[in-house]
Amino acid sequence: MDEQAKKAALRGISYGLYVIGTKVGDDVNAFTGNWVTQTSFVPPLVVIAAKKGTTSCDGIRESGVFSVNVLETGQKDLAFSFFKPVSRVGNKFGEVEFYTQTTGSPILKEALSWFECKVVDVNERGDHVLFVGEVIDAGVHRGGDSMTLKETGLFYGG
Ligand SMILES: Cc1cc2nc3c(=O)[nH]c(=O)nc-3n(C[C@H](O)[C@H](O)[C@H](O)COP(=O)(O)O)c2cc1C
Repeated sequence: MDEQAKKAALRGISYGLYVIGTKVGDDVNAFTGNWVTQTSFVPPLVVIAAKKGTTSCDGIRESGVFSVNVLETGQKDLAFSFFKPVSRVGNKFGEVEFYTQTTGSPILKEALSWFECKVVDVNERGDHVLFVGEVIDAGVHRGGDSMTLKETGLFYGG
């Protein structure tokens, strides 16, 4: 396989950008990720991919729940607040306000909308864990256009 072609072709996939929250013991954590997609209407299923060895990945594995916060276009600062590992920077929430509802996973007040999932399947193949989540609660804070990975100028894929 042509490595450059593989990278370019995979980077051709269009993505949104989301803050994925989870419970870690009695605490909460979150990371910004683009590997998120819906995979079923009934029941409503989504898949996220969480990097093996991260606090978030372990947290989702242990708690069996996660939240997905849909960011608004332009919320670059909010997205960037959750890229760094909690193990290095400590609590990432700082001034970012959140609340919890059904699963205990953090819901960002500034997000456009959100949904919470319970993990119904786990696939360990590869360097990320694929968590299949059934959507068990959702809410909308306000209307607006969702953030895209493209507008950040970053890539996560290839
Ligand atoms: C543009 C971009 C997209 C990312 N998407 C994902 C993703 O979909 N899944 C993932 O596990 N990590 C993704 N990451 C990396 C996580 O944000 C990073 O590993 C984070 O530090 C994990 O947080 P934690 O260590 O507090 O759990 C992405 C990073 C960048 C820069």
